[in-house]
Amino acid sequence: MIPLIRPFLDEAELQEIAQVLSSGFLTQGPKTAEFEQRVAEHIGCKYAFAMSSCTTALHLALVALDIKHGDEVLVADFTFPATANVVVQQGARPVLVDIDLDTFTMSPDDLERKISSHTKAIIPVDAFGCAANYDPILAIAEKHRLPVIEDAATAIGAKYYDRFCGNLSTIGCFSFHPRKVITTGEGGMITTNDSVLAEKIRLLRSHGGVKTGAWFQYEAAGFNYRLSDILSAVGVAQMAKLPMLIERKRLLASLMSQRLSKLAGVCLPTEPKWGGHIYQSYVILIDPQFDRDKVVTEMRARGVEATIGTYALHDQPVYQRQFGYQAGQLPNSHAAFRRSITLPLYPQMSESDLDLVVDTFKAVLSQQ
Ligand SMILES: Cc1ncc(COP(=O)(O)O)c(C=O)c1O
Repeated sequence: MIPLIRPFLDEAELQEIAQVLSSGFLTQGPKTAEFEQRVAEHIGCKYAFAMSSCTTALHLALVALDIKHGDEVLVADFTFPATANVVVQQGARPVLVDIDLDTFTMSPDDLERKISSHTKAIIPVDAFGCAANYDPILAIAEKHRLPVIEDAATAIGAKYYDRFCGNLSTIGCFSFHPRKVITTGEGGMITTNDSVLAEKIRLLRSHGGVKTGAWFQYEAAGFNYRLSDILSAVGVAQMAKLPMLIERKRLLASLMSQRLSKLAGVCLPTEPKWGGHIYQSYVILIDPQFDRDKVVTEMRARGVEATIGTYALHDQPVYQRQFGYQAGQLPNSHAAFRRSITLPLYPQMSESDLDLVVDTFKAVLSQQ
């Protein structure tokens, strides 16, 4: 079986973990501080806080920005549900925004249309390792004085022109789930340059406690959203590999695109004008005459673990029941949800693995 993705782990992660285990300090401690520093230095931001996941990072970002019941948050519709679930969990209303199909990211035109007097924040999503179109999004945010939370779950090391994702707006949120370019098993990170937000995040990440001497005083009803030093150890070793992993993914993506370039009815991922795509996932769109679900099922039956791109949230039962969305209401996101396929792409892949993916895809498509 060619898997969808394979984390790139070796002796370096084991050595880092061994250091932490022998230190006896297992929860958030010096290794987490080191991991945070590596991420902050890499993307060029002032503050970075390791979190238990990107979902908890997104949630804490909303809490820090004081998003609450009655507020509306504009969320890119084509994404993993966590991006909008956290808005619902805060008692706020997710207002779903359509995407541009060439990048699978938030459409600035639809964003502008959906702003209301209740809007309190915007969450664009960097899709599959490709930055959203931040210049127009940030211009709209500035015009309406709205904070922007970047869901950069898939985009550590990705760039928008010469700046790194996660350092483009008010707050950035990364994921280190195993499907991402670097992983800690589970894990995430919040990044910001805002010292007031940073203090709130620091406080709320760990129960709301402030050390006032020998023990803590509790200033807020906070969370336990910390990352353990055991997982941060993996993160430190993974950060050292990040440039190599990105280089390899970009090379494999270009080889994949060369091999698929002449295939009719298939739209390949392209580098946007702002560049910096890291191909966390290699996602294509197939024409509606093909049965996408059958293509994916048949590829799996033949030993290639393809899957869908991601979800159109307005097509999900919970968003339809709770907020009255109807299938197809956001046409580009709906089309992407119905027609996208993620093909396997991971750094250890050989060219013959890649050929097998391509040949299997071509064979399955030709039988439709
Ligand atoms: C765009 C996006 N946002 C948020 C998440 C949630 O990340 P985590 O699994 O780290 O909570 C994911 C994970 O797949 C994602 O792809």
